[in-house]
Amino acid sequence: MKSLVIYYSLEGDTKLIANIIKNELNSDVLELRTKKQYPNKGFKKYLWGGKSVIFKEKPKLLNKYIDISIYDKIFIGTPIWAGTYAAPFNTFFNEYKIKNKEIGLFVCHGGGRSNKCFDNLKKELKGNKIIGEIEYTNPLKNNKEENIQKTLNWIKNL
Ligand SMILES: Cc1cc2nc3c(=O)[nH]c(=O)nc-3n(C[C@H](O)[C@H](O)[C@H](O)COP(=O)(O)O)c2cc1C
Repeated sequence: MKSLVIYYSLEGDTKLIANIIKNELNSDVLELRTKKQYPNKGFKKYLWGGKSVIFKEKPKLLNKYIDISIYDKIFIGTPIWAGTYAAPFNTFFNEYKIKNKEIGLFVCHGGGRSNKCFDNLKKELKGNKIIGEIEYTNPLKNNKEENIQKTLNWIKNL
């Protein structure tokens, strides 16, 4: 059965990992895209994204609704924003109720801790089986080739 990769990426790191999984498993992909784009440079980037997390905003998504019931394995990937998942996932979790799936979690960060982000994702994903979790430090800018291999090994062992 086909797997699905759901992710959000502002600067391409999470997208890099999502594409590796997609290519390796021939997965379908749902890239969350916000109607209003977050700034992706300088101080504004942290300000707007950070504010969005702190105020638990649910930014409007451009994506068409998809039927996730046809997938039994789902990968969910996000950058860490202010210690947790990026705000577009607030909208996603509000719109989609995922149950009885096998879930792989992947998160990208700038060097901070990922425990809280994984815990918060798992809270939203109760009723599913978490089959794996993996984290990266800015994988696009840091040891890209190593991170590609790390992802392939991860998938192989799930
Ligand atoms: C709004 C915002 C908040 C962030 N907060 C954190 C954080 O709390 N901890 C951390 O380690 N990195 C943080 N980062 C860095 C990103 O998580 C990191 O650069 C990640 O690799 C970006 O993924 P992307 O390229 O898919 O957007 C933050 C970045 C942004 C834009």
